[in-house]
Amino acid sequence: MNWKDEMEARTEQVEQIIKSYLPKEAGYQKHVIEAMNYSMLAGGKRLRPLFVQEAYRMFGGNGREAEPFMAAIEMIHTYSLVHDDLPCMDNDEYRRGRKSTWAQYGEVMAVLAGDGLLTYAFETAAKAFALSKHPDRVGRAIGILAGKAGISGMLGGQTADIEAEEAGSEVTEELLLFIHEHKTAALIQDALMIGAVLAGATEEETAKMERIGYLIGIAFQIQDDILDVTSSLEVLGKQTGSDEKNHKATYVTLKGLAQAREDQERLSREAVELLASFEQKNEFLEKLVEELITREK
Ligand code: IPE
Ligand code: IPE
Ligand code: MG
Ligand code: MG
Ligand code: MG
Repeated sequence: MNWKDEMEARTEQVEQIIKSYLPKEAGYQKHVIEAMNYSMLAGGKRLRPLFVQEAYRMFGGNGREAEPFMAAIEMIHTYSLVHDDLPCMDNDEYRRGRKSTWAQYGEVMAVLAGDGLLTYAFETAAKAFALSKHPDRVGRAIGILAGKAGISGMLGGQTADIEAEEAGSEVTEELLLFIHEHKTAALIQDALMIGAVLAGATEEETAKMERIGYLIGIAFQIQDDILDVTSSLEVLGKQTGSDEKNHKATYVTLKGLAQAREDQERLSREAVELLASFEQKNEFLEKLVEELITREK
């Protein structure tokens, strides 16, 4: 199988797992559940669930306890996007090739759908207890899931990102790296660490996965900043020029396009090297990280 077909097949498997954990649209709360599922079913690359699955396989996991976590992390990621697009945040009308949740369902429903996805993520992750012989690992993974999503992780990064808009061109490299590490790398670290912990990886191995997630995450957000300048709504599925519209300091405004590209590639290659240095091999994961260097969406 060539790479494109293999990725499509893997993504389709992930898609099925995610779908199986989505809530039923029923009851007086039907409308908010529809808005939750609207954003969950809009597509997306499903990278974070793939990272959970591949890290789990890498450390010898062969059960089903990673599956609820795959759905859960995509719910948290999707909630972050639903809220990120709100008029009071980045004010973006398109996401994943369709109207963003607030543009489709109104702002109130988008706020509630985001809240709904965040809480449902933990309800979903807790289902792993029934699938696992290792409740201690599931408990630890839930703690990691929460920690990397919250004030010490993604939410902390989003807060610093929004506050930095006022500072404009005064944003230092140190602050920008804090923002990228937290708003974006944290959920990638989350995915890799959860997969590792569920499969029984050691503390040391898990810490190394955290470092790899940092490198992948910073590179991923640099590329996101690049594509915001160089791509189009048709290719990306979200509006470009969003950062400029919001007067955001990005890796591109700080370092220029050429340097951003160079740093993105360097960090990605460093991540691949670290992955390859493990005794446990996962060539698919290495290839996936390498492919992200040239991603166009
Ligand atoms: C977009 O993430 C937000 C960032 C953290 C840069 P993705 O580029 O993974 O978005 P989807 O899930 O594919 O839509
Ligand atoms: C957002 O970064 C990261 C999140 C935690 C949602 P961006 O605001 O650049 O993400 P996009 O470009 O809207 O996807
Ligand atoms: Mg944003
Ligand atoms: Mg945004
Ligand atoms: Mg962006």
